[in-house]
Amino acid sequence: MTDTGIRSTTPSAPAFPRDRTCPYQPPADYDELTADGPLTRVTLYDGRVVWLVTGHTEARALLTDPRVSTDRQNPAFPVVAPRAESQHTVVLPLLGVDDPEHARQRRMLIPRFGLQRVNAMRPQIQAVVDRLIDTMLAKGPGAELVSAFALPLPSMVICSLLGIPYADHDFFETRSRALLAARTDREATTARDELRAYLHRLVDRKKDDPGDGLLDELIAERLAEDQLDRDELVMMTLLLLVAGHETTSNMISLGTYTLLEHPGELAALRADPTLMPTAVEELLRFLSIADGLVRVATDDIEIAGRTLRAGDGVMIGTSVANRDAAAYDHPDTLDLHRSARHHVAFGYGIHQCLGQNLARAEMELALLTLVRRIPTLRLAVAPDEVPVKPGDTLQGLFALPVTW
Ligand code: HEM
Repeated sequence: MTDTGIRSTTPSAPAFPRDRTCPYQPPADYDELTADGPLTRVTLYDGRVVWLVTGHTEARALLTDPRVSTDRQNPAFPVVAPRAESQHTVVLPLLGVDDPEHARQRRMLIPRFGLQRVNAMRPQIQAVVDRLIDTMLAKGPGAELVSAFALPLPSMVICSLLGIPYADHDFFETRSRALLAARTDREATTARDELRAYLHRLVDRKKDDPGDGLLDELIAERLAEDQLDRDELVMMTLLLLVAGHETTSNMISLGTYTLLEHPGELAALRADPTLMPTAVEELLRFLSIADGLVRVATDDIEIAGRTLRAGDGVMIGTSVANRDAAAYDHPDTLDLHRSARHHVAFGYGIHQCLGQNLARAEMELALLTLVRRIPTLRLAVAPDEVPVKPGDTLQGLFALPVTW
């Protein structure tokens, strides 16, 4: 029997997700989630019981299993928060579709996100980093790091890449946040509709007045050739815009906080900047800001002595899988020297993060320049006064007051 739609309060299926207390640690009671082995049962906010995958090997196996789907149109697809209750009414490109549809869409975008293209953007990213730090230093000492640095950097970079006017950032940043963290479905739907309408208007404007962004390229090469439907193009751009700034912003602010709370590791990084790429992978693993990747099984699957039935909801607990002792020695220790690259913080398999090269470049340049140019950087409040985002959205900080 599948668990689809079954309401349960079974004590053996604890609530998931839960809020972090310390922003860089999974909730303390997540320890109990591994007691049953690499897969366990958890209860979502609406009472539905789904599988939670906590083993690193099992997470990678299921993320590459074609019997595990991301199709949000599937009525059995789990709803993880009230804001996603009408998710089945919207076709989300890439992340919300399976192959072959997914492969067709991803192929159109891959060239822009390849390592070479991203490396060519590094001087431009460095210039934005330096400008933002110049402004902070001129206004300081003291700043709120999310609004002064961690958010505008990825926001400016993704705008430039896509060809979206950064002047509209207040508009799309507030809607993006609502889409990812609204308390109600209505609020999230309004935010999505407003963003969608904005992007449709932008596509209209660009047809007469093209620029050199990815959106312009897709209009000229794909829309004009009928390889892409107009709303598909808009929804794809919407996903790139939202994923392109909210995620990296959380990693930069939370990464800074984590380094400040680990002065030995921070000193090692300052002493040897070549450590930065390794450090970024370790921060990605350690922080696992995208926790709880959502899937549905479309067939019966045997794994780790368990049987997942067609229609069962599946969640990949990246924060726990990335601290699996079978995959990492001393997994709860932040060790910037370790080789953590096989983490699942960017997911794994066909949906593995399209923007990972860009995210890495931004994190490397942002964190290194920040600690190099502001060597006395420190928290301006007690560590436990920093406001932490709730467990059912991307993990991060609402604000990060710092001084120097
Ligand atoms: C540190 C920052 C980032 C993190 C931690 C992150 C994390 C992730 C994760 C975990 C997934 C897989 C989700 C799943 O399988 O359910 C994903 C997919 C994706 N990410 Fe990122 N991401 C980051 C930055 C970015 C950036 C900068 C962009 C765009 C410019 C981006 C665009 C995407 C897209 C389009 C997908 C869907 C790919 C597909 O379905 O084929 N991400 N990301």
